[in-house]
Amino acid sequence: MIKQAIIPLAGLGTRLLPLTSVFAKELLPINGRPGIEYILDECIEAGIKEVIFIISNKKIMIKNYFYNDIFYKKIITKKKDIRIINEYKRILKYKKMIKFVYQNKPLGTGDAVLKTRKYIKDKFFLMLLPDDLILKKNCSKAMIKVHNKYKSSVMASMNVNKKTISRWGIYKLSKKINKTDYFINDVIEKPSIKNAPSNKAVIGRYILPKKIFSKLLKQKPGKGGEIHITDAIQSLINENYKFIAHNFSGKYLDCGSMDGYIKSSMEISKL
Ligand code: G1P
Repeated sequence: MIKQAIIPLAGLGTRLLPLTSVFAKELLPINGRPGIEYILDECIEAGIKEVIFIISNKKIMIKNYFYNDIFYKKIITKKKDIRIINEYKRILKYKKMIKFVYQNKPLGTGDAVLKTRKYIKDKFFLMLLPDDLILKKNCSKAMIKVHNKYKSSVMASMNVNKKTISRWGIYKLSKKINKTDYFINDVIEKPSIKNAPSNKAVIGRYILPKKIFSKLLKQKPGKGGEIHITDAIQSLINENYKFIAHNFSGKYLDCGSMDGYIKSSMEISKL
């Protein structure tokens, strides 16, 4: 059973400047609610009981959003506004399931994952990259179903335009399991078009084995000098660990880019 999820939130959000110069991108409103709440709802609906947020000192406002009890209690005593009471209850529901760990240097997603090592209890856990919003169908839930069936790691996959290949982790597929799922042979972080084995990209939902931590401890910096989760996954594949690429059916939006962020409010308001 997958009960824990981790969410790296220490990124600087430069693709969303100037919005992110003083504001955490994950708190930017999407149709009236912070983007991170959609990610949390996806986790809750998928049966996750504990979520570990990896933040940085610079993004302490994310913790403050969930720990603003004194402020809420004061306002509620004074105003007795039912809307505010319900909003506060909702925040408390999230707060109960969130733990915070810190990554103060932006050394990459692999390094962020390593910060959660002491807290992961089971053999497998879920990771969600908050820039990647998937609407209409719960991708985490679908992936957990695949994991429960095959007892292996699972990662979200989507066909991407060849021109954008160097922006993604790219899969080399192995055996087809069914219409949506494939075993993978390789995964390469941001290859050139020339070196890309396919146009199937890694999207930010991963069911990873605890074993990944021992690989990350030894992981050398890769592309752009960062420690990539993709490289640690490849080390596990090299040791015959099974990874499945799951072609999800929801609607994908890249909320870490201005275009995707703007579209996300429109798409959510249509739901
Ligand atoms: C990360 C991963 C990459 C993946 C992408 C999906 O890249 O490293 O493999 O394809 O997320 O959004 P980033 O967006 O941090 O550059």
